[in-house]
Amino acid sequence: MNNFEYYTPTKVVFGKGTELETGALIQGYGCKKVLVHYGGGSVKRSGLLDRICQSLESSGIAYITLGGVVPNPHLSLVYEGIELCKKEGVDFILAVGGGSVIDSAKAIGYGVTNPGDVWDFYEKKREAEACLPVGTVLTIAAAGSEMSDSSVITKEDGWIKRGYSSNFSRPKFSVMNPELTMTLPEYQTMSGCVDIMMHTMERYLNRVDNMELTDGISEHLIRTVMKNAQILLNEPKNYEARAEVMWAGSLSHNGLTGCGTDGGDWATHQIEHELGGMFDVAHGAGLAAVWGSWARYVVSERPERFAQFAINIMGVEASGSDMETALKGIEAMENFYRSVNMPTSLKELGVEPTEDQLKEMAEKCSYWGKRTIGCVKVLDGEDIYRIYQDAK
Ligand code: NZQ
Ligand code: ZN
Repeated sequence: MNNFEYYTPTKVVFGKGTELETGALIQGYGCKKVLVHYGGGSVKRSGLLDRICQSLESSGIAYITLGGVVPNPHLSLVYEGIELCKKEGVDFILAVGGGSVIDSAKAIGYGVTNPGDVWDFYEKKREAEACLPVGTVLTIAAAGSEMSDSSVITKEDGWIKRGYSSNFSRPKFSVMNPELTMTLPEYQTMSGCVDIMMHTMERYLNRVDNMELTDGISEHLIRTVMKNAQILLNEPKNYEARAEVMWAGSLSHNGLTGCGTDGGDWATHQIEHELGGMFDVAHGAGLAAVWGSWARYVVSERPERFAQFAINIMGVEASGSDMETALKGIEAMENFYRSVNMPTSLKELGVEPTEDQLKEMAEKCSYWGKRTIGCVKVLDGEDIYRIYQDAK
């Protein structure tokens, strides 16, 4: 087992009706003014935004609002939010929504508390030294940003999508009422389930072996999400299934399933981020579309680990070599994606990139030849291009 630090300071307030506690939760931070940040309107339609605002008002908390965050959130709105917060003296940001809203809130928080251009952090030019405190009311189980240290933003100029991670941005609290996710369209629910599973798969498919406990947690987490995704396909208002998936989403990306590993692979995420930046696809669906191509491209480096994945997670019976079992596991995962109406190719994802676009994505993903990605197999721009080709 590798050495590790496990730091997960976010207070979780989980269950029915918990959004009504938001005002009282923020009171504990002694802030002067809150920015309530939200997306494209789902929280207005559901009445959630009104309930949150009432909760703030009854706790005597001053606030302003800024909506309009889009999936694959844009840098331009982040800049707008930074200016607004500075002008209004905002000292706490409440994100009401999914990963996109939370990530936009974190980016605004960096921009208010650090001098210079916030995009520098996403380009890895320098490190942030602070972030405004962020709290969240989560409406979709997916990205795990409600407990993670990450924020992923798209710069419209060139459509470059980049992530930045720092403990400063870990939310102070996250309110999670599974009922709030019942209004999600099926596609978003399933895309979220894929993302949740992938946050643990990225950590699980690694280059170290002796992690019995972490492996066990990871294997059970992925199986739990698969089982409950199937239930939600037929019963989208099943509270218990919504709750299992929501809690899995947080545990899958708060660092728990990475403890004792080498940090994991993460190539699938990097490969998908270029798709999200260029074609604006739902993140989880994009992951499903490229994962099989990535897995087949790298499996020969770690057939024994993929075989463990096949047996312990996908329920494949070991037969023949590790490689044969491993390949059956990859196929079984793709069959699962199909069973929940998720794509297993770019075409099924609804994008048909030109040859030039495939090359451009591979170039961007390798930072124009300046970085490699992945640990199961270290991938350069040429490898990434081939994976995009295989995924067509
Ligand atoms: O904008 P609204 O109208 O709210 O609609 C959203 C959006 O269209 C809708 N939605 C959310 N909750 C809803 C709802 N519709 C009905 N009822 C509800 N209760 O769902 C759509 C998707 O929302 P979004 O926030 O984009 O989804 P998700 O949570 O999947 O976030 C995706 C973003 O997170 C990034 C992704 O790359 C992507 O940009 N990620 C962030 C990570 C992190 N910060 O740790 C890690 C992830 O790997 C990921 O990269
Ligand atoms: Zn993800």
